[in-house]
Amino acid sequence: MTAKNVLVTGANGQLGREIKSLTSKNDSIFRFIFTDVAELDITNVAQISDFVRQNDIKYIINCAAYTAVDKAEIDIETADLINAIGAENLARVSAENNCYLIHISTDYVFDGTSNTSYTEDMPVNPLSAYGKSKLKGEKGVQKYDKQAIIIRTSWLYSEFGDNFVKTMLRLMNEKESLNIISDQHGTPTYAADLAETIISILNFSESNEWQSGIYHFSNQGETTWFGFAEKIKELAKIKRCILHPISTKEYGGSTVNRPMYSVMDKSKIESVFQIVIPVWENGLGRCLEKYFSKGLTE
Ligand SMILES: NC(=O)c1ccc[n+]([C@@H]2O[C@H](COP(=O)([O-])OP(=O)(O)OC[C@H]3O[C@@H](n4cnc5c(N)ncnc54)[C@H](OP(=O)(O)O)[C@@H]3O)[C@@H](O)[C@H]2O)c1
Repeated sequence: MTAKNVLVTGANGQLGREIKSLTSKNDSIFRFIFTDVAELDITNVAQISDFVRQNDIKYIINCAAYTAVDKAEIDIETADLINAIGAENLARVSAENNCYLIHISTDYVFDGTSNTSYTEDMPVNPLSAYGKSKLKGEKGVQKYDKQAIIIRTSWLYSEFGDNFVKTMLRLMNEKESLNIISDQHGTPTYAADLAETIISILNFSESNEWQSGIYHFSNQGETTWFGFAEKIKELAKIKRCILHPISTKEYGGSTVNRPMYSVMDKSKIESVFQIVIPVWENGLGRCLEKYFSKGLTE
Protein backbone atom coordinates (compact mmCIF):
# COMPACT_ATOMS: atom_id res chain seq x y z
CA MET A 1 0.00 0.00 0.00
CA THR A 2 1.38 3.45 -0.86
CA ALA A 3 1.37 6.08 1.86
CA LYS A 4 -1.22 8.90 1.61
CA ASN A 5 0.22 12.38 1.24
CA VAL A 6 -0.68 14.84 4.00
CA LEU A 7 -0.02 18.54 3.43
CA VAL A 8 0.61 20.59 6.59
CA THR A 9 0.48 24.38 6.01
CA GLY A 10 1.93 26.94 8.43
CA ALA A 11 4.25 24.18 9.61
CA ASN A 12 6.76 26.50 11.31
CA GLY A 13 4.14 27.61 13.85
CA GLN A 14 3.42 26.08 17.25
CA LEU A 15 0.92 23.48 16.06
CA GLY A 16 2.76 22.64 12.84
CA ARG A 17 5.98 21.98 14.73
CA GLU A 18 4.19 19.76 17.25
CA ILE A 19 2.71 17.73 14.38
CA LYS A 20 6.19 17.46 12.88
CA SER A 21 7.69 16.19 16.12
CA LEU A 22 4.99 13.50 16.38
CA THR A 23 5.32 12.14 12.88
CA SER A 24 7.96 9.95 11.39
CA LYS A 25 9.47 9.89 7.91
CA ASN A 26 9.05 6.11 7.92
CA ASP A 27 5.29 6.13 8.45
CA SER A 28 3.83 3.60 6.03
CA ILE A 29 0.29 5.04 6.15
CA PHE A 30 0.94 8.78 5.82
CA ARG A 31 3.67 10.82 4.16
CA PHE A 32 3.71 14.30 5.71
CA ILE A 33 4.74 17.30 3.63
CA PHE A 34 5.45 20.33 5.81
CA THR A 35 5.22 23.80 4.27
CA ASP A 36 5.19 27.35 5.56
CA VAL A 37 4.67 30.61 3.68
CA ALA A 38 8.05 30.36 1.89
CA GLU A 39 7.09 27.06 0.25
CA LEU A 40 3.33 27.47 0.04
CA ASP A 41 1.47 30.73 0.60
CA ILE A 42 -2.16 29.97 1.44
CA THR A 43 -3.23 33.36 0.10
CA ASN A 44 -2.23 32.20 -3.39
CA VAL A 45 -4.91 29.85 -4.68
CA ALA A 46 -3.09 28.96 -7.91
CA GLN A 47 0.00 27.97 -5.95
CA ILE A 48 -2.06 25.75 -3.63
CA SER A 49 -3.81 24.15 -6.57
CA ASP A 50 -0.52 23.32 -8.34
CA PHE A 51 1.04 22.05 -5.13
CA VAL A 52 -1.88 19.77 -4.29
CA ARG A 53 -1.98 18.28 -7.79
CA GLN A 54 1.77 17.88 -8.18
CA ASN A 55 2.11 16.18 -4.79
CA ASP A 56 -1.03 14.05 -5.03
CA ILE A 57 -2.30 15.37 -1.68
CA LYS A 58 -5.02 13.40 0.10
CA TYR A 59 -5.27 15.27 3.43
CA ILE A 60 -4.68 18.96 4.18
CA ILE A 61 -4.07 20.20 7.72
CA ASN A 62 -4.25 23.98 7.84
CA CYS A 63 -2.09 25.29 10.69
CA ALA A 64 -1.33 28.55 8.85
CA ALA A 65 -2.86 31.65 10.38
CA TYR A 66 -2.42 35.26 11.39
CA THR A 67 -2.39 34.83 15.18
CA ALA A 68 -1.25 38.27 16.43
CA VAL A 69 -4.53 39.13 18.17
CA ASP A 70 -3.56 42.70 19.15
CA LYS A 71 -1.93 43.54 15.82
CA ALA A 72 -4.97 42.28 13.91
CA GLU A 73 -6.97 45.28 15.20
CA ILE A 74 -4.82 47.65 13.13
CA ASP A 75 -3.97 45.22 10.34
CA ILE A 76 -7.43 43.84 9.61
CA GLU A 77 -6.64 43.43 5.91
CA THR A 78 -3.75 41.04 6.48
CA ALA A 79 -5.64 39.11 9.17
CA ASP A 80 -8.55 38.68 6.75
CA LEU A 81 -6.27 37.78 3.86
CA ILE A 82 -4.63 34.92 5.77
CA ASN A 83 -7.42 33.78 8.11
CA ALA A 84 -10.39 34.23 5.78
CA ILE A 85 -9.19 34.20 2.14
CA GLY A 86 -6.35 31.76 2.86
CA ALA A 87 -8.70 29.28 4.56
CA GLU A 88 -11.24 29.67 1.76
CA ASN A 89 -8.52 29.03 -0.87
CA LEU A 90 -7.56 25.77 0.82
CA ALA A 91 -11.21 24.70 0.97
CA ARG A 92 -11.74 25.39 -2.75
CA VAL A 93 -8.66 23.40 -3.74
CA SER A 94 -9.50 20.64 -1.28
CA ALA A 95 -13.00 20.21 -2.73
CA GLU A 96 -11.76 20.35 -6.34
CA ASN A 97 -9.25 17.61 -5.66
CA ASN A 98 -11.36 15.41 -3.33
CA CYS A 99 -9.01 16.01 -0.42
CA TYR A 100 -9.92 15.88 3.25
CA LEU A 101 -9.32 19.23 4.93
CA ILE A 102 -8.77 19.81 8.66
CA HIS A 103 -8.88 23.53 9.40
CA ILE A 104 -8.07 25.08 12.79
CA SER A 105 -10.17 27.86 14.30
CA THR A 106 -10.55 29.55 17.67
CA ASP A 107 -12.64 30.06 20.80
CA TYR A 108 -12.48 33.80 19.95
CA VAL A 109 -15.44 33.28 17.58
CA PHE A 110 -17.54 33.43 20.78
CA ASP A 111 -18.37 36.60 22.72
CA GLY A 112 -17.90 34.99 26.12
CA THR A 113 -21.33 35.80 27.54
CA SER A 114 -22.31 32.17 28.08
CA ASN A 115 -22.20 30.74 31.58
CA THR A 116 -21.97 27.14 30.41
CA SER A 117 -19.23 25.63 28.26
CA TYR A 118 -19.60 26.34 24.56
CA THR A 119 -20.86 23.54 22.33
CA GLU A 120 -20.27 23.60 18.58
CA ASP A 121 -23.81 24.72 17.75
CA MET A 122 -23.95 27.72 20.10
CA PRO A 123 -24.19 31.19 18.48
CA VAL A 124 -20.95 32.85 17.47
CA ASN A 125 -20.28 36.56 17.88
CA PRO A 126 -16.59 37.44 17.73
CA LEU A 127 -15.47 40.58 19.58
CA SER A 128 -12.06 41.12 17.98
CA ALA A 129 -10.72 41.60 14.44
CA TYR A 130 -8.82 38.32 14.85
CA GLY A 131 -11.99 36.47 15.94
CA LYS A 132 -13.94 38.00 13.05
CA SER A 133 -11.29 36.99 10.51
CA LYS A 134 -11.27 33.42 11.88
CA LEU A 135 -15.07 33.24 11.70
CA LYS A 136 -14.95 34.38 8.06
CA GLY A 137 -12.43 31.57 7.53
CA GLU A 138 -14.82 29.01 9.08
CA LYS A 139 -17.65 30.22 6.86
CA GLY A 140 -15.47 30.12 3.72
CA VAL A 141 -14.31 26.60 4.54
CA GLN A 142 -17.89 25.43 5.09
CA LYS A 143 -19.08 27.10 1.90
CA TYR A 144 -16.48 25.62 -0.41
CA ASP A 145 -15.69 22.28 1.18
CA LYS A 146 -18.76 20.70 2.72
CA GLN A 147 -16.79 17.75 4.05
CA ALA A 148 -14.12 19.76 5.87
CA ILE A 149 -13.41 19.31 9.57
CA ILE A 150 -13.01 22.53 11.57
CA ILE A 151 -11.42 22.30 15.01
CA ARG A 152 -11.78 25.28 17.33
CA THR A 153 -9.09 25.46 19.96
CA SER A 154 -8.11 27.90 22.72
CA TRP A 155 -5.14 29.40 24.60
CA LEU A 156 -2.62 27.37 22.59
CA TYR A 157 0.95 26.98 23.86
CA SER A 158 3.87 24.75 23.10
CA GLU A 159 7.59 24.48 23.61
CA PHE A 160 7.91 26.16 20.18
CA GLY A 161 7.26 29.77 19.18
CA ASP A 162 5.96 32.62 21.32
CA ASN A 163 3.16 31.97 23.77
CA PHE A 164 1.88 32.76 27.26
CA VAL A 165 3.90 29.99 28.95
CA LYS A 166 7.22 31.13 27.52
CA THR A 167 6.45 34.80 28.13
CA MET A 168 5.58 34.01 31.77
CA LEU A 169 8.77 31.97 32.28
CA ARG A 170 10.85 34.86 30.96
CA LEU A 171 9.02 37.59 32.91
CA MET A 172 8.93 35.59 36.16
CA ASN A 173 12.69 35.25 35.98
CA GLU A 174 13.17 38.96 35.22
CA LYS A 175 10.67 40.70 37.49
CA GLU A 176 9.89 40.90 41.21
CA SER A 177 6.13 40.92 40.59
CA LEU A 178 3.59 40.62 37.78
CA ASN A 179 -0.05 41.66 37.34
CA ILE A 180 -2.08 38.94 35.61
CA ILE A 181 -5.69 39.06 34.41
CA SER A 182 -7.92 36.98 36.64
CA ASP A 183 -11.40 37.56 35.20
CA GLN A 184 -11.04 35.90 31.77
CA HIS A 185 -11.92 32.22 31.98
CA GLY A 186 -10.84 29.60 29.47
CA THR A 187 -8.78 26.48 28.96
CA PRO A 188 -5.11 26.30 28.02
CA THR A 189 -4.31 23.82 25.26
CA TYR A 190 -0.99 22.07 24.86
CA ALA A 191 -0.41 22.11 21.08
CA ALA A 192 1.13 18.61 21.29
CA ASP A 193 -2.22 17.27 22.55
CA LEU A 194 -4.04 18.95 19.66
CA ALA A 195 -1.43 17.56 17.25
CA GLU A 196 -2.01 14.08 18.63
CA THR A 197 -5.76 14.49 18.18
CA ILE A 198 -5.29 15.53 14.55
CA ILE A 199 -3.17 12.41 13.93
CA SER A 200 -5.89 10.33 15.66
CA ILE A 201 -8.47 11.81 13.27
CA LEU A 202 -6.33 10.82 10.28
CA ASN A 203 -5.91 7.29 11.62
CA PHE A 204 -9.60 7.05 12.47
CA SER A 205 -10.51 8.17 8.96
CA GLU A 206 -8.44 5.43 7.34
CA SER A 207 -10.78 2.79 8.74
CA ASN A 208 -14.03 4.75 9.31
CA GLU A 209 -16.14 7.19 7.36
CA TRP A 210 -14.83 10.78 7.35
CA GLN A 211 -16.75 12.79 9.98
CA SER A 212 -17.06 16.36 8.67
CA GLY A 213 -18.20 19.30 10.81
CA ILE A 214 -17.11 21.64 13.59
CA TYR A 215 -15.42 20.27 16.71
CA HIS A 216 -14.08 21.81 19.89
CA PHE A 217 -10.71 20.82 21.28
CA SER A 218 -8.79 22.16 24.26
CA ASN A 219 -7.40 20.38 27.29
CA GLN A 220 -9.94 19.58 30.00
CA GLY A 221 -10.78 21.82 32.95
CA GLU A 222 -10.78 25.58 33.14
CA THR A 223 -8.84 28.42 34.68
CA THR A 224 -8.00 32.12 34.28
CA TRP A 225 -4.79 33.68 32.94
CA PHE A 226 -3.87 34.24 36.60
CA GLY A 227 -4.53 30.58 37.47
CA PHE A 228 -2.52 29.54 34.42
CA ALA A 229 0.39 31.78 35.50
CA GLU A 230 0.30 30.44 39.07
CA LYS A 231 0.52 26.87 37.77
CA ILE A 232 3.44 27.77 35.48
CA LYS A 233 5.22 29.32 38.46
CA GLU A 234 4.56 26.28 40.64
CA LEU A 235 5.57 23.66 38.05
CA ALA A 236 8.65 25.62 36.97
CA LYS A 237 9.59 25.98 40.68
CA ILE A 238 10.05 29.75 40.42
CA LYS A 239 10.26 31.20 43.93
CA ARG A 240 10.83 34.91 43.63
CA CYS A 241 8.20 36.57 41.44
CA ILE A 242 4.95 37.60 43.16
CA LEU A 243 1.78 37.31 41.06
CA HIS A 244 -1.08 39.77 41.54
CA PRO A 245 -4.56 39.03 40.16
CA ILE A 246 -6.09 42.01 38.36
CA SER A 247 -9.21 42.61 36.29
CA THR A 248 -9.22 43.10 32.50
CA LYS A 249 -10.21 46.74 33.15
CA GLU A 250 -7.27 47.30 35.51
CA TYR A 251 -4.85 45.66 33.05
CA GLY A 252 -5.69 48.13 30.31
CA GLY A 253 -2.70 47.02 28.23
CA SER A 254 -4.67 45.90 25.20
CA THR A 255 -7.41 47.48 23.14
CA VAL A 256 -8.71 44.08 22.02
CA ASN A 257 -12.00 42.83 23.43
CA ARG A 258 -11.53 39.20 24.40
CA PRO A 259 -14.25 36.80 25.58
CA MET A 260 -14.51 36.79 29.38
CA TYR A 261 -15.48 33.12 29.26
CA SER A 262 -14.49 30.76 26.45
CA VAL A 263 -14.48 27.28 27.96
CA MET A 264 -15.50 24.80 25.25
CA ASP A 265 -17.38 21.53 25.56
CA LYS A 266 -15.28 18.71 24.08
CA SER A 267 -17.75 15.83 24.28
CA LYS A 268 -18.36 15.72 20.51
CA ILE A 269 -14.72 15.25 19.49
CA GLU A 270 -14.19 12.76 22.32
CA SER A 271 -17.10 10.57 21.34
CA VAL A 272 -16.81 10.76 17.53
CA PHE A 273 -13.07 10.04 17.39
CA GLN A 274 -12.86 8.02 20.62
CA ILE A 275 -10.14 10.12 22.18
CA VAL A 276 -9.31 10.88 25.80
CA ILE A 277 -8.32 14.49 26.54
CA PRO A 278 -5.86 15.22 29.37
CA VAL A 279 -6.54 17.99 31.91
CA TRP A 280 -4.71 21.26 31.23
CA GLU A 281 -2.40 20.98 34.26
CA ASN A 282 -1.16 17.65 32.92
CA GLY A 283 -0.50 19.14 29.47
CA LEU A 284 1.38 22.05 31.03
CA GLY A 285 3.51 19.68 33.11
CA ARG A 286 4.53 17.67 30.02
CA CYS A 287 5.26 20.82 28.01
CA LEU A 288 7.50 22.27 30.75
CA GLU A 289 9.29 18.95 31.19
CA LYS A 290 10.08 18.84 27.48
CA TYR A 291 11.06 22.49 27.42
CA PHE A 292 13.44 22.22 30.37
CA SER A 293 14.91 18.94 29.15
CA LYS A 294 16.07 20.83 26.06
CA GLY A 295 17.92 23.32 28.25
CA LEU A 296 15.72 26.34 27.43
CA THR A 297 17.21 26.59 23.95
CA GLU A 298 14.11 27.63 22.01
N1 LIG B 1 -2.06 30.64 19.44
C1 LIG B 1 -3.23 30.57 20.09
O1 LIG B 1 -3.34 30.90 21.27
C2 LIG B 1 -4.44 30.05 19.38
C3 LIG B 1 -5.67 30.01 20.07
C4 LIG B 1 -6.79 29.53 19.42
C5 LIG B 1 -6.70 29.09 18.10
N2 LIG B 1 -5.51 29.15 17.45
C6 LIG B 1 -5.44 28.70 16.05
O2 LIG B 1 -4.63 27.54 16.01
C7 LIG B 1 -3.95 27.48 14.76
C8 LIG B 1 -2.47 27.26 14.99
O3 LIG B 1 -1.99 28.36 15.75
P1 LIG B 1 -0.43 28.52 16.11
O4 LIG B 1 -0.39 29.15 17.46
O5 LIG B 1 0.30 27.26 15.83
O6 LIG B 1 -0.04 29.64 15.04
P2 LIG B 1 1.40 30.24 14.78
O7 LIG B 1 2.39 29.71 15.73
O8 LIG B 1 1.22 31.73 14.65
O9 LIG B 1 1.75 29.64 13.34
C9 LIG B 1 1.11 30.04 12.17
C10 LIG B 1 2.08 29.81 11.03
O10 LIG B 1 1.43 30.17 9.80
C11 LIG B 1 2.37 30.89 9.03
N3 LIG B 1 1.73 31.71 8.01
C12 LIG B 1 1.32 33.00 8.09
N4 LIG B 1 0.84 33.41 6.91
C13 LIG B 1 0.92 32.36 6.07
C14 LIG B 1 0.57 32.17 4.70
N5 LIG B 1 0.05 33.16 3.97
N6 LIG B 1 0.80 30.96 4.14
C15 LIG B 1 1.35 29.96 4.87
N7 LIG B 1 1.70 30.07 6.16
C16 LIG B 1 1.49 31.27 6.76
C17 LIG B 1 3.10 31.72 10.07
O11 LIG B 1 4.28 32.26 9.55
P3 LIG B 1 4.81 33.68 10.18
O12 LIG B 1 5.12 33.40 11.60
O13 LIG B 1 5.99 33.98 9.32
O14 LIG B 1 3.69 34.65 10.01
C18 LIG B 1 3.35 30.67 11.14
O15 LIG B 1 4.50 29.90 10.87
C19 LIG B 1 -4.31 28.76 14.02
O16 LIG B 1 -5.38 28.52 13.15
C20 LIG B 1 -4.78 29.69 15.12
O17 LIG B 1 -5.69 30.66 14.66
C21 LIG B 1 -4.38 29.61 18.07
